[in-house]
Formats: sequence, structure tokens, C-alpha cells
Amino acid sequence: MKPFDVYPLYPIEPVKAQGCYLWDKDGMQYLDLYGGHAVISIGHSHPRYVSKISEQIQQIGFYSNSVQNSLQIELAEKLGQVSKYEDYQLFLCSSGAEANENALKLASFHTGKSKVLAVSGAFHGRTSGVVAATDNPKIVAPFNANHDVEFIPFNDVDILASAFDETVAAIIIEGVQGVAGVYSPTQEFLSKAQALCDSFGSLLILDEVQSGAGRTGKYFAHQHFDVKPDIITLAKGMGNGFPVASVFISRKIEPWAGMLGTTFGGNHLACAAALSVLEITCEEKLMKNASIMGAYAKEKLMAIDQVNEVRGEGLMLGASFDFPVAELRKKLLMKHQVFTGSAADKNTLRILPPLNIKQEHIDHFISKLKLA
Ligand SMILES: Cc1ncc(COP(=O)(O)O)c(C=O)c1O
Repeated sequence: MKPFDVYPLYPIEPVKAQGCYLWDKDGMQYLDLYGGHAVISIGHSHPRYVSKISEQIQQIGFYSNSVQNSLQIELAEKLGQVSKYEDYQLFLCSSGAEANENALKLASFHTGKSKVLAVSGAFHGRTSGVVAATDNPKIVAPFNANHDVEFIPFNDVDILASAFDETVAAIIIEGVQGVAGVYSPTQEFLSKAQALCDSFGSLLILDEVQSGAGRTGKYFAHQHFDVKPDIITLAKGMGNGFPVASVFISRKIEPWAGMLGTTFGGNHLACAAALSVLEITCEEKLMKNASIMGAYAKEKLMAIDQVNEVRGEGLMLGASFDFPVAELRKKLLMKHQVFTGSAADKNTLRILPPLNIKQEHIDHFISKLKLA
């Protein structure tokens, strides 16, 4: 057997990682400004994270959700405090798509309706319902295409208002659109979505899978605005590479036994990883660092002639060049050993580094960018 060939691969094999760096099997060092799709939050192989996971697996790594697990309670309390969502309920699962799938399912259970509104450019994952709410027909199989989903233009409040009616279960919006090329919702759009949800008995879902866990300088990107979603999803940075994800659920949605479920979600190892990430995020003030370093990177990027615009907040940045960046990214990686990200918008370079990045790393990146 061989791997199912769905990923275009760079000819690089990282075998070691530490902080903001990776090393390949020949000992070549790479600067990581991408975090493997925004996953690395506290830095690669943080020593305290490694110890916490190692200690946990020596005690107990996994048992099913049919027994008590006080680590889940500890994680819910700590996540509630850090995110300022202490009054919400937490459902743990293992990936961003799974978190969003559960969010849509909850909205549908709660409202008794099936229609979902999504926005142009959205990416919510690849499972059945969320791929239907993802704005990329290439990855939607006929089996997934029959969900009751309507797309509306991003940030268009008038079309948003005309699309809403009593059949809508939920609207799902990314905290910051990542895959599209780092585009933020406006306050007006979020406020209108919340108001329409309130008047039609629908639920507002914020997908913070990529933009959460402190990446934008606040725990969730929507906290830069005045809005309170009914459901929030979180994944990537939450586990720093350990597959753990979550759904934050308003108290107005009442659980019943068997309503949601998962084998792996919230297992002991996953909880230990997520708790360790939270502790390190707070102790090392990584959200503050994300704000400061993000502003610094923005200023340096804007000073480059071919950069037209730098979108995003904190360490979720999209630098828009006046040419397609595919070649530039390749050169940065293969010639200058710097990982960066692409986006659906071909002119956008996505910058999603570990949140403990320092000024010297950004200076190094900018100097290589000028050479590439
Ligand atoms: C905003 C957003 N939602 C959902 C997902 C899907 O997450 P996963 O790949 O963990 O299923 C992604 C992945 O890139 C994402 O960026």
C-alpha cells in the first residue's frame, strides 16, 4: 500500500522542530512563518508542552467518553476564563471540520430547521455539511452538494438581510477568512447577522478554527468587534499540533444524552495538550506578543514596494502583492528556507507564524523577501 496521493508535496522532510524553526533530514534549518496552516501557536516542541504530554501518557492517554475525566472539566474552566466565555458549554472533538459539523448540527437540532447561510470565500472543512458550506465547488462531491446552503457575498449587509427568513437555522462566518486570503468581517456585517439571527430564531456561528487561540491578539478574532455568537468553533492553535478541537455553546442550547458524540474527542492526552497550550499562552503573554509582532510585521511588509495591502490582525496576516506569489513562495522556501502560506487569492502571501515569534525572525524574513 502507499499513501493516497492528494497532497502536492515540497521536496522537504522536516525531522526536527523547535520554537520558530524546523530542520530537515540533511540538517538544513527553516524559519516557520506558516505554522503548518496556523497550527503552531506556542512554538514547536515547547519543552513544557512536551513534558506535560509525556507525563500524561505515562499515567493514562485515552479512555472513552463513557467515564469521568476531570481533565475535561479543568480544560473547560480554563478555556472559559482565558477566552472570557465562562458562561458557555464546551464540546471537545478532534478537528476543525468536526467542530464545524457539530456546530451546524447543534443549530439544526436547536432550531428544528435545516437551512444554513454561508459567505463567499468561506472555508469550513471537508466533511459532509461543512464542505457544502465551503465556497469551493472543486472539493464538494455530489453526495455533499444537496445540503440546504445558500452563499451570500461577504460583508454585504443588504443581501444578508434579504437572504434571511424563518427557514434559516444558522449563519456561519469565519472570525477572519483564512484560506480566502485573510479578510475580516465588518462590525456592520456581524451586528446585522446577530440581529437577524435574533429576529428569526436562527443561530450565529463563528468559525475560529484558524483565527482563534490568540492568533489575532485576542483569544478569538471576533472579540475585536462587539458581537456575541451562539456557537464558536476552535481547532488548529488549540493543541499546537495535537489534534484537538472544540465547540463553545451558548447556554440557550440544551444538551441531551447522545445529542453529540465522538470516540477520540476530549481524551486525556488531548486535554493535557490543550491545557498546556493555554498555560503557556498565558504565562508567556503570547496574545500580547501576537499584537506587537503583528504590528511590526505589518509595518515592515507595507514598506516593500510591491506590497499593496496587508490585511489581518496580530499574527494572522495576508500581504497582497501586485503579482501572483506562487514563485515567490517557492523561492522563499527552497532558496531562503522560509515557510510561508498561499491563499485562494493568488496575490496573497499568508503569514501565520508561531505566536512566540521575535523581531529578529521577522527581520530575517523581510531581508529574505527582498532577495527573493
Ligand atoms: C476557518 C477554517 N475552518 C475549518 C477548517 C478545517 O479544519 P480541519 O482541517 O482541522 O478539519 C479550516 C482548515 O484550514 C479552517 O481554516
